[in-house]
Amino acid sequence: MPTILITGAGRGLGLEFARQYAADGWRVLATIRDPLKGKAVSDAGAEVYVCDVADAGSLARLRASLGGMKLDVLLNNAGIYGEPQGFGAVAEDEFLKVMRVDALAPLKVAEAFADLMTGPKIIAAVSSMMGSIADNTTGGSYGYRAAKAALNMVLKCMAVDLAAQGIVTIALSPGWVRTDMGGADAPLDAPTSVAGMRKVLAGVSAQDSGSFIHYDGSHLGW
Ligand SMILES: NC(=O)c1ccc[n+]([C@@H]2O[C@H](COP(=O)([O-])OP(=O)(O)OC[C@H]3O[C@@H](n4cnc5c(N)ncnc54)[C@H](OP(=O)(O)O)[C@@H]3O)[C@@H](O)[C@H]2O)c1
Repeated sequence: MPTILITGAGRGLGLEFARQYAADGWRVLATIRDPLKGKAVSDAGAEVYVCDVADAGSLARLRASLGGMKLDVLLNNAGIYGEPQGFGAVAEDEFLKVMRVDALAPLKVAEAFADLMTGPKIIAAVSSMMGSIADNTTGGSYGYRAAKAALNMVLKCMAVDLAAQGIVTIALSPGWVRTDMGGADAPLDAPTSVAGMRKVLAGVSAQDSGSFIHYDGSHLGW
């Protein structure tokens, strides 16, 4: 039975990932922040762990509880958007908080778990088209855009650094999805986006490592 670790799995895309992988027969290790909010993810068939990915102590405790488990896929899904975001109104603390959660934490999570990787050895992160410099025609959203662009670079660096260990790293773009973050006007539902990203992950090989891939399978520009 393949095993996946998913961060931020209590709601939104993370919860949908947990549902779909569990329904497909995977062992799903799912993290949430609030231990009182684990019902949806345990009902989905996942094993629930508590972790704030931006907190080094919390991450160390998660690593200790997973001990010598083997992971086929490590999925950095947890993320925040942050506010305010417009030019002239970016709050320094908020900008740094978004960088910590969306860019630094996936690196620290990967560092914590890389030695447990087995099987296809995929380390993925849910990035965003908003992190694409090539695609940016509308500006704004400084913290989120900068953090997802930094996340993309983290994944590209890890593709180089972890190649010798046979680890493949992938930046995923889910599209614009109806979740708490995406809002009600988003065109995509979570099951469709997650099914697409799962198909991407199921099909990647070493030559895809360090790529930015949309939920529909198309490769994206940085
Ligand atoms: N929805 C979209 O259209 C869209 C588009 C592009 C990219 N994304 C990315 O997709 C990922 C999932 O987003 P979503 O739409 O599902 O958003 P969401 O509904 O707001 O869910 C975000 C998840 O991240 C968790 N989280 C936030 N900070 C965390 C931390 N410090 N430690 C651990 N978990 C943390 C949240 O946990 P709590 O419940 O404890 O807050 C929640 O489970 C994010 O990385 C987001 O940037 C989303």
